[in-house]
Amino acid sequence: MAVTLDMNRIPRHVAIIMDGNGRWAKGRNFSRIRGHRAGVESIRAVVRYAGQIGVKYLTLYAFSVENWNRPKREVAALMKLLRRFLEKEVDELDRNDVRLRAIGRISGLPDEVQEWIRIDEERTGNNRGLNLILALNYGGRSEIIDGVRKVAVLVGKGRMRPDDVDEESFRDFLYASDIPDPDLLIRTSGEMRVSNFLLWQISYTEIWVTQKFWPDFRERDLRRAIIDYQKRERRFGGMKASAG
Ligand code: IPE
Ligand code: IPE
Ligand code: MG
Repeated sequence: MAVTLDMNRIPRHVAIIMDGNGRWAKGRNFSRIRGHRAGVESIRAVVRYAGQIGVKYLTLYAFSVENWNRPKREVAALMKLLRRFLEKEVDELDRNDVRLRAIGRISGLPDEVQEWIRIDEERTGNNRGLNLILALNYGGRSEIIDGVRKVAVLVGKGRMRPDDVDEESFRDFLYASDIPDPDLLIRTSGEMRVSNFLLWQISYTEIWVTQKFWPDFRERDLRRAIIDYQKRERRFGGMKASAG
């Protein structure tokens, strides 16, 4: 069993469903909010390590369109944590050549969160290292619907024909069309579902699930996920070149 990373086959895009903050906290008799706070440390570790090993894109699912259904207090705490993250981490991200971007229905977020997203995106916009993409107020179905609406407007104006819509051109109407599809999707805390994350983009993504809760996830876990990924054979519906 390979135990070292093959540096020539580092996945270009890793996406993570950061799940299990609540369960991590519950097991320690902490508030769920304390679990979310602990999760920020995992984000720092993963961003640092992904940048070091040459991952080009790291997308983190931080808040889904469905997460508004949680108790008001928890939602408020998450928004506060998010704003603080955007405010406090920007210097360090910039120093490490990380470019931060956000995807999702950003206009549905609190004004001050939107403001910090703008500040961070501008500050880090010219960086050429890791692209850190935060999925905020994000839903895979919402993303597709938002794209369909944009297409419908253009068709209505006669600037696009229905026949012009194909898998390649539709990409331009998604939130970040320049970002390649994820190679590897990681989910923590054992759940075997995608929870409305990047539905369009993960059609051929390799999925890796760990039982660990997000606040316990560290460099070695990402490393293990990538080593497992490197053992897999991606087929994209075709056959291995060597197969007969
Ligand atoms: C993930 O942890 C963080 C967010 C969804 C914002 P959870 O809060 O979903 O933790 P569990 O799933 O309840 O343990
Ligand atoms: C997915 O986790 C959303 C984020 C990690 C932001 P959830 O905890 O919201 O998903 P479900 O409810 O278990 O499917
Ligand atoms: Mg959860």
